[in-house]
Amino acid sequence: MTRAAITGTGVFTPRESITNDELVAAFNAYADRRNAEGADPPVPHSSAEFITKASGIERRYVLDKSGVLDPDRMYPKLPERADDQPSLMAEMAVDAATAALSQAGVGASQIDAVICAASNHERAYPAIAIEIQQLMGTQGFAFDMNVACSSATFGIQAAADMIRAGSIRKALIVNPEICSAHLEWRDRDCHFIFGDVCTAVVLEREEDAAQKPRWTIDSTRCATQFSNNIRNNDGFLRRTRDAMEDRRDMQFVQEGRKVFKEVLPLVSNHIASHMADAGWQADDLDRVWLHQANKSMNDFIGRKVLGREPEPGEQPNILQDYANTSSAGSIIAFSKYQDGLGDGARGIICSFGAGYSVGSVLVERRAP
Ligand code: COA
Repeated sequence: MTRAAITGTGVFTPRESITNDELVAAFNAYADRRNAEGADPPVPHSSAEFITKASGIERRYVLDKSGVLDPDRMYPKLPERADDQPSLMAEMAVDAATAALSQAGVGASQIDAVICAASNHERAYPAIAIEIQQLMGTQGFAFDMNVACSSATFGIQAAADMIRAGSIRKALIVNPEICSAHLEWRDRDCHFIFGDVCTAVVLEREEDAAQKPRWTIDSTRCATQFSNNIRNNDGFLRRTRDAMEDRRDMQFVQEGRKVFKEVLPLVSNHIASHMADAGWQADDLDRVWLHQANKSMNDFIGRKVLGREPEPGEQPNILQDYANTSSAGSIIAFSKYQDGLGDGARGIICSFGAGYSVGSVLVERRAP
């Protein structure tokens, strides 16, 4: 059977970043202003110690720092662009995709399909992916998809299936995540969670990639189970409901504790059954690249998957620097932490989040 292989990855990282201390100072200034106006109930202060301890996050990259840190605004300022200018998501994607194509040694004109897989899309249509196709000069077709935090792994499965079925030979999957725009920076329980980034992955038929280092995809598995515990009610029907006011549920809302409790067994069982069906043992795994939402969550899943305490570097975290970047998190970890993995090394890329959704990709390193 034809297999798909990952031959290139790329990461676009915004220039500006916000430390927990900077974020908390802005939040507390906002809280003080609200409280001076008589907020009822009063807005409690946030704490950098709490954020680091509860989540493992120390800073996050954002497209616009000044808007987020302005206590009179508390969200990014991203000026509207004319229809004949590249959209923001497409611009981020082109940057990450250029790096991924260069690493793969693949020209844009050799790509048959572009999938823009992300938690939010900048407009309803035309698809951001089709704009990326035009900006980069790729062939074939392109489409957008959204499976929230699992968009990247679901996108990899979709592309790998098309390669396996023979409808395409090479695919580009991009994950531009502007999480700063759906985050409610005025909510103390979650204001620290997200950051902005874009990742890109190039997939090729294994036989076309035989002359290059690659990660051959052994198998993929996706699963979903409905939950309201991570939800955003914004959508195209908003106007019809006369609901254009500034409403909390028109941004990201979560029951963090419940998500933590429910997603851990879901993900652990998902990985265990995927590996068992693929005939992989815990000892076969050299690296575990997990979704980046919470350090304790990842430590727990790492221990479950490996059946022991992960050695340093075996289950790399990037969330201390990037925070939760939705679908891009596991791909940033995969892209940046491949050191020391030679021919025959095995690993798992796994994402999980809203939906609920969980996606896993078993990969094996092959030398030319
Ligand atoms: N600063 C100080 N205190 C804070 C705070 C902040 N920024 N945010 C919350 N607190 C307080 C709460 O009010 C609560 O106080 P109480 O005990 O007096 O009621 C206490 O800290 C614990 O809050 P809780 O929300 O239960 O914290 P937590 O330990 O569950 O950590 C998360 C919060 C969000 C870090 C954690 O639940 C998480 O990461 N969950 C998984 C999320 C996830 O994977 N989501 C996927 C999204 S794509």
